[in-house]
Amino acid sequence: MISTTFCALLLASVLQASCLDNGQARSPALGYNTWNAYGGDIDEDLIRATADLMVSSGLKKAGYHYLVIDDAWSNLQRDDQGRLHANSDRFPSGMKTMADYVHSKGLKFGMYSDAGSHTCLGYPGSRYHEKEDAESFADWGVDFLKYDNCWAPASDWVIDRYTAMHTALNGTGRPILYSMCDWGVGDPWLWAPKIANSWRTTGDISPNWESMLRCLDNTIGLSKYAKPGAWNDPDMLEVGNPGLTEQEQRANFALWAVLKSPLMVGTDLRRLSKTALEILTAEEVIAVNQDKLGVAGDLASSNARQVYAGPLEDGSRAVVLFNRHTSGTQYPLSNVTVQWQDLGKGWICFS
Ligand SMILES: *[C@@H]1O[C@H](CO)[C@@H](O)[C@H](O)[C@H]1NC(C)=O
Ligand SMILES: *[C@@H]1O[C@H](CO)[C@@H](O)[C@H](O)[C@H]1NC(C)=O
Repeated sequence: MISTTFCALLLASVLQASCLDNGQARSPALGYNTWNAYGGDIDEDLIRATADLMVSSGLKKAGYHYLVIDDAWSNLQRDDQGRLHANSDRFPSGMKTMADYVHSKGLKFGMYSDAGSHTCLGYPGSRYHEKEDAESFADWGVDFLKYDNCWAPASDWVIDRYTAMHTALNGTGRPILYSMCDWGVGDPWLWAPKIANSWRTTGDISPNWESMLRCLDNTIGLSKYAKPGAWNDPDMLEVGNPGLTEQEQRANFALWAVLKSPLMVGTDLRRLSKTALEILTAEEVIAVNQDKLGVAGDLASSNARQVYAGPLEDGSRAVVLFNRHTSGTQYPLSNVTVQWQDLGKGWICFS
């Protein structure tokens, strides 16, 4: 017992020393992002409507505080000074006005850029413009930046590209949550905790079961790299989207919560079903995700059924019993056996 305690304490102090010091994401980010629902089909009326709905639906009250505009918000060209501007057709009021509106609802404002020459949809990326873009974001009142990985020059080292934006964001003096979206390229969990508040562990999720399982599987074993201020990100939620059954949406939410993933809603809030809202606002599940201990859960045992588990601040454990099968002989629900000793894996140092 004594050696076990030592082990846990030692781990905590080592991890603390190497963590990004910007005060953000002490627990995983909770919010909304436009990509999964709309792709590039976004404009300022949609953002205002989404902000309104985050409040009126109860999502804000449940803890979802960030509203993030993903790809396709800018003009196709920078201006003569090399600055980015909001898309003149779809965001004629400009990004400062958007930020002010989102803030007026008591929400935080997030934006998107890319560590290559262009974003995934072909808008200007921030590579070699990190400083002026970070300054624009800070001027507009941005609180969160998702930073993508399209159009990256092959000669350019992924760590350099992501560190350049980290340095630029820090230089603005504005606290901005930095959400790295490098798709897990270059094992970011090994180096990103020093520069970012979260890093993607996988390619993009799509609204289907196989894709969700792939994102989950690519995140197994990475819990040890997560800690307050620095989280694994298996990508945004598909809860509410056609393509996943209700049971599958519950699985998406429960698993992401116990992995201490950021929980970013990605569905059309104008058509949000009562069931999807219930899943997204399940208090106990959100409480697991936001637990103050800040230790990510992980795969604890894997037989016909999988068990995911992680420790909580009050000394209890959060456990997800998971049946991956949607058809065939493995599908019908049956008893799942869990050994107590399996539930502690990844936290207490078992020999
Ligand atoms: C910039 O980095 C320093 C050193 O890690 C840190 O103390 C400071 O809070 C950071 N500032 C911002 C705005 O992130
Ligand atoms: C599950 O366990 C209960 C209690 O031990 C037992 O009665 C039941 O038959 C089991 N069900 C299955 C499908 O194994």
